[in-house]
This record gives sequence, C-alpha cells and structure tokens, in this order.
Amino acid sequence: MKVLLCYFSGTGNTRKVINRFAEVFAEHEVSVDLYKIEENNFTYNLDDYDMIGIGYPVHAFNAPSIILNFAKSLPEQKDKRTIIINTSGEPLKLNNISSIKLSKILTKKGYNITNEYHYCMPYNIIFRHTDNMAYKMWKTANDVIPIDCKEILNGKQAHLDKVFMGSFIAWLFRIEFWGGRFNGKRYKVNENCIHCNKCVNTCPTHNITIKDGKFHFGKNCIMCMRCSFYCPKAAIKIGLFERWKVNGAYNFNNPNDYEDEVHKKYCQKSYIRYFEECNQKISQAKTMLEETEEQEEIEDVVKA
Ligand SMILES: Cc1cc2nc3c(=O)[nH]c(=O)nc-3n(C[C@H](O)[C@H](O)[C@H](O)COP(=O)(O)O)c2cc1C
Repeated sequence: MKVLLCYFSGTGNTRKVINRFAEVFAEHEVSVDLYKIEENNFTYNLDDYDMIGIGYPVHAFNAPSIILNFAKSLPEQKDKRTIIINTSGEPLKLNNISSIKLSKILTKKGYNITNEYHYCMPYNIIFRHTDNMAYKMWKTANDVIPIDCKEILNGKQAHLDKVFMGSFIAWLFRIEFWGGRFNGKRYKVNENCIHCNKCVNTCPTHNITIKDGKFHFGKNCIMCMRCSFYCPKAAIKIGLFERWKVNGAYNFNNPNDYEDEVHKKYCQKSYIRYFEECNQKISQAKTMLEETEEQEEIEDVVKA
C-alpha cells in the first residue's frame, strides 16, 4: 500500500502528528510520502497512491486557506480514498466543522473521505498551555494514532460528528479571511529584534520582507503564527491579537517542573472528556491485543 500525506503546519503540532502517522504506517509496511503544502510544488501522480491524507491545524473552526487552495488545485479523481487529520488547541466538538468546506471541495472532485481524526495539541494562540499539558496531549496523540492507523488499514471508516448548521458557523468564524489581510498588515517588530531574520526566512507565504532595514508585512498573512511563535526575542506584535500571542516552543518531553495551570477552568469539561475517551480507546486496544496474543498462544499449543 502507498500513501501520500499532505499537510500544513504553522508551528509544528500538525507536523508532529503527521510524522507519527507516517512512522506507524511504515511499521505496517505501508510506503509513505510526505508533502509540505507550503512548498507549493506538487508534482505527485495520485494514481501511484492508494490513499491520500490531508493534515492541518484548525483555525477558528476552519481549515486554513492554504489547505482549501491546495484541495482546489488537486486533480479530479475517481473515488480516491482520502483521510483528514487535524489538530486544535481545545477539544470542543465545534472544531469538527473545520473539515466541512474541505470535504465539499474534495468530494466534488471525486475524493472519497473515509476517515477523519482530530488530536488535541497545545495552543499556538489564545494562551500558553503548560508544558505538562503539552506533554499529556502529545503522549495521548502518540498512543491513539497507532489505533487510528490500524482502523484505517483494516478498512474501517471513521467520521467526526458535526454540529447543526456547522457550515454556517464555520463561515461566520472564518477569521483568516479578514484577519490575515487586515490584521496581518498590522504586525510590528519591536526594539528587541536581533535581526536573525528567522521570521522572514520561515514565513510559509513569504509575506515578510525587509526594505531599508525595516520589516514589511504584506497582505498574504495566513495567521499561522509561525513568525511570532518562534521569534527568539518575542519581538513580533501580532496586531489586534497581541494579547493572545503565544511565544516559544513547547517542551513535549515529560517536564520535571509542574507549572501551575492558570487556565484550569477553560473548557475544563471538554478536556476531561477528550482524555477520558482517548484513554478508553487506548485501554480497549490493549485488551484486544492481549486477547489476540492469548488466542494465538492457545492455537500454537493446539497445533503443537
Ligand atoms: C488563527 C488561529 C486560530 C485558531 N483557532 C482555533 C480554534 O478555533 N479551535 C482550537 O481548538 N484551536 C485553534 N487554534 C489553535 C491551533 O489549532 C492549534 O494550536 C494547532 O495544534 C496548531 O497546529 P500547528 O502547530 O500545526 O500550526 C488556532 C490557532 C490559530 C493560529
């Protein structure tokens, strides 16, 4: 089996998840190619693949425009098996509507969306999760992905529930539509800047340029937060969203210091439900594996 996983990741969370999928598929002897959508040089022949996957971060209950444009640019297919994988900072069911528009574009082109998965990963905007929470989220995704991969490889379908009027709600919240154009141009660099040019060199849409020593933010911002998140001096001000800025990579390894969770109450119930559901899935899979191994042992003894 051959799989092509295409993804966009602003600050690395989705990339981590997609890489884990690639790793697990490879363990099952599936050949995997990875395509970073921002590279904008798609030359793959989809006839060579049995399945394609599309991964993205949820942006205000929507898929980022770079993903929708990519889907629009894909060639028509006849029933190509397709999986959708997304990450978001909170596990609200409302995030599931992010794939509605993407699914419509793909389905119209003949792609058959058979599986859809969501993983909670730490926020890159709004507020900073603790490293402890980031560790917990990543460990959970890491443990659930092999189960989801097995489901895909066994041909079982999985779809995420969508809320009533999901299309309309997603349309209302398409922040990137105005936020990128209007707010993106209002980004500023403060005096802490050390001119490392990391932002210029890593912006996925090449939206940051330097003219006469001054930073210029164009109209192609897609609000991925990569520039401000990875700025080593937190020197980029993100316009109207400055209060929501999150700066600096998370430590996904088991942290020794347990910081106080300042936002303990925020979406508390949905985080509890998310981790409970994932843990249940993990323990069910473990029990099934143990039963299968036991059964195989019995069969071996009988044969002998
Ligand atoms: C502009 C923007 C909007 C976002 N909107 C949501 C949202 O509606 N719901 C959510 O749970 N997380 C939201 N997030 C958080 C990201 O989806 C989350 O941190 C994701 O894992 C980031 O993935 P990445 O590192 O691959 O970009 C938003 C992030 C950005 C930058």
